[in-house]
Amino acid sequence: MAVAEPARQSTTQETGVKRKPERDGFSTHIGALLATLGSAVGLGNIWKFPAFAGKNGGAAFVLVYLACVFVVGIPLMVAELSIGRAARANAVGTFKRLSPKRPWFLIGAGGAVAAFIIMAFYTDVAGWVFAYVFRALTGALPTTVEGTSAAFDQLVSSSWEPLIWQWIVLAVTTTIVMAGVKKGIEGAIRRLMPALLVLLLISVARAVTLPGAAEGVAFLLKPDLSRLSWSVVLLAMGLAFFKLSLGMGTMITYGSYMPEKSNLFLTAVRVAAADTTISLLAGLAIFPAVFHFGFEPTAGPALLFNTIPAVLGSLPFGRLFTASFFVLTAAAATGAMLSLLEVPIAYLHEERNLPRRTAALITALGIAVLGVPATLSTGPLAGLKIFGLTFFDLFDFLSQNILMPIGGIAIAVYVGWFLRRQKLLGEGPAARYVSAALKFVVPVAIGIILLNGLGLFA
Ligand code: TRP
Repeated sequence: MAVAEPARQSTTQETGVKRKPERDGFSTHIGALLATLGSAVGLGNIWKFPAFAGKNGGAAFVLVYLACVFVVGIPLMVAELSIGRAARANAVGTFKRLSPKRPWFLIGAGGAVAAFIIMAFYTDVAGWVFAYVFRALTGALPTTVEGTSAAFDQLVSSSWEPLIWQWIVLAVTTTIVMAGVKKGIEGAIRRLMPALLVLLLISVARAVTLPGAAEGVAFLLKPDLSRLSWSVVLLAMGLAFFKLSLGMGTMITYGSYMPEKSNLFLTAVRVAAADTTISLLAGLAIFPAVFHFGFEPTAGPALLFNTIPAVLGSLPFGRLFTASFFVLTAAAATGAMLSLLEVPIAYLHEERNLPRRTAALITALGIAVLGVPATLSTGPLAGLKIFGLTFFDLFDFLSQNILMPIGGIAIAVYVGWFLRRQKLLGEGPAARYVSAALKFVVPVAIGIILLNGLGLFA
């Protein structure tokens, strides 16, 4: 909490001086890169990206998405990582150190609140994934779409079962984060990422060697410029934002654990490239098999929980393929959840001086409480609506359409206009590019997403 009396608001020299030498962090460049990738890779790669790409122009959508990543995603990620590393503090403390006595720390506070809200429904879905791992391994999953959708409806509409899975997810992820940044988060990601990649490559190999696979590959990648429209661009931009875990302090917190000399621009580019590759591989693992069996390509829960088990389950060794697909999805979701948990935990630990374990327990408890209405909103509480939305949809809407875009604009404006670029972003063409994007392009682009999300262009 002790902050050196600052001479001026924009002075950044004192940052880093006050930090405690024993502060936890990522141990190597590669560890930092993997952990950041682990945050980006999540449910979004599996149930959002492939289906969005398939429906909105294939390779043409991928190009639009990459443009959004380059113009909005990477500059914002570099901004977040840079301020976190400069201050060596949690999402709130970062602003308090860089700009003491200014209200900028509210950005970090909003991020911590967003983390609870996102986790409330993300752990619900992750719970379903964990349940499916269990069911696939025990052979309890049907292999027809009618069967799987009935089983899925039964799971999400009961009261205790999804809650218990959600608590299992919270217990697992909280236990990992409790062990610390290096031992817990980085250690877990170093195991999860290779497992995820191996299982993904196996799934891709199986899918693309099925008869008729070409149709699925074409669905995912065939460039169709006629599908592109203004609303597809907005969709791609929103997706880039969620995929790269931006706008709510995750990357600020992870930046604060980065080694001094990591090149943050390169880190951001690599994370975005690897994350997009994983999304495309997921698409290659899913759609050839979907088309092989003549299923409809869908998105969201229906794709993940109804179509995939039916498709994979009807292959030879189907139970094994289904189980490995859900294990890889669980691994992806876990890495993302670790990064979400770390935002409030680091805040409570550093700003409120709580022991890390206590901070983790309070965070998990808060999410568990907030998670109850989200989880029950597909069951007993389905009729309870606020502004016409169930709790699940409300949390989803609040975080993605309001809190994250506002956070993103605020961070871009703060770093672009209120901090001195030379100190923070360094010199050279990459820094100039990031700075220019943060000043002009990012606030306008996210402003449009925000207005769009609020339904103003509908
Ligand atoms: N990027 C993750 C996914 O694609 C989700 C996620 C993790 C996230 N951390 C985040 C989203 C922070 C927003 C903010 O599933």
